[in-house]
Amino acid sequence: MHANIVVLPGDGIGPEVTAAAVEVLRAVAARYGHDFHFREHLIGGAAIDATGSALPDDTLAAARDADAILLGAVGGPKWSDPNAKVRPEQGLLAIRKALGLYANLRPVKPHAATLGASPIKPHLLQGVDLIVVRELTGGIYFGDKTRSDSDASDLCRYSVAEIERVVRHAAALARTRSGKLTSVDKANVLETSRLWRDVTTRIVREEFPDVQLEHQLVDSMAMHLLARPREYDVIVTENMFGDILTDEASMLAGSLGLLPSASLGEGTNGPDGSAQPEHRIGLYEPIHGSAPDIAGKGVANPYAAILSAAMLLRHSLGLDAEAQCLELAVSRALDAGVFTADLTCDRTRAVGTRAVTEAVLEQLELPCQVMELRD
Ligand code: NAD
Ligand code: IPM
Ligand code: MN
Repeated sequence: MHANIVVLPGDGIGPEVTAAAVEVLRAVAARYGHDFHFREHLIGGAAIDATGSALPDDTLAAARDADAILLGAVGGPKWSDPNAKVRPEQGLLAIRKALGLYANLRPVKPHAATLGASPIKPHLLQGVDLIVVRELTGGIYFGDKTRSDSDASDLCRYSVAEIERVVRHAAALARTRSGKLTSVDKANVLETSRLWRDVTTRIVREEFPDVQLEHQLVDSMAMHLLARPREYDVIVTENMFGDILTDEASMLAGSLGLLPSASLGEGTNGPDGSAQPEHRIGLYEPIHGSAPDIAGKGVANPYAAILSAAMLLRHSLGLDAEAQCLELAVSRALDAGVFTADLTCDRTRAVGTRAVTEAVLEQLELPCQVMELRD
């Protein structure tokens, strides 16, 4: 298969972890006979420095034409002046909105080898396999903002259509898993949440009667997620709650450096340019940020970026077997104890970004049963 992949390294550790993910994708292409073409473009602080805009026109144009987009992270202290006219994060929000990437999938599946990296007791983590579907192009992130000398406001607004489409996505996903869907809101306080709850209840009742739906308030959800994570499967929630709950959920896996994500919209351009709803245009990025405290040191954990590349293979290119083989390679590298500093208390065992990348490349060379079965 031929695929055009746009790479947006961004800022801080973004370029370090995307370089690792691209190297791994090149190895996947070589091993399984694909032709991936990579083009780098600017976003975030790096784009502000070069062009004055956090999302230059040519970056957006290239992204629209791509089969998939791989992104690192944006932001950092250099661009964090509260009075700055333009901020790196605006570039990320703008590309999500412009491409209509409303469903952000954030899977959380602790790996046996990294249970020790989690502050949660290991017996609570065994068997945890959940996925948060975060609404990504609405809510308080995108409402009108005002600021005067005496006050400021951010408007939180959701339309019925915005809620319907992300709930349909999550309910369809729940159907392919255990059939259980948890919707998270703050319906005891927020009007947007009361609409969210009404719409979710109706969509599931009318279109997914086989899906078992429960509603949960976000504050107690934050507690349940740590106390009984095994009880959750698909969790659907609005933009900001999903942002916060998934950084929290990263502690189930052991590190922010382990959680990948896929941001999906409606299918418009399949690999051959034709509309292929099952091969959606998507943007793939780790859930972590630019980690300014460790940037430039070669110590960033690239597993989340590499696992995001696996999601890219699966969701945008339809290469599910290759995605599974890459996930297996990551799993084997973790089993072999190849840990960055965030994954181990034993500093003498910690390796850098380069060593993790090499370990995954080495594991990719080994036989992968998934491929053998398909072939
Ligand atoms: P962060 O996710 O960048 O870092 C939080 C902590 O986790 C830091 O101690 C960091 O060193 C550590 N960490 C994160 N990723 C890691 C990795 N791969 N390997 C090892 N350690 C890792 O969050 P922050 O410090 O709150 O934000 C820093 C900047 O990143 C801000 O400008 C923020 O807006 C931006 N940000 C961007 C994205 C994105 O581009 N998607 C996501 C979150 C934050
Ligand atoms: C994320 C980040 C972004 C968000 C920021 C950088 C705009 O935290 O992708 O989780 O809040 O969506
Ligand atoms: Mn976040």
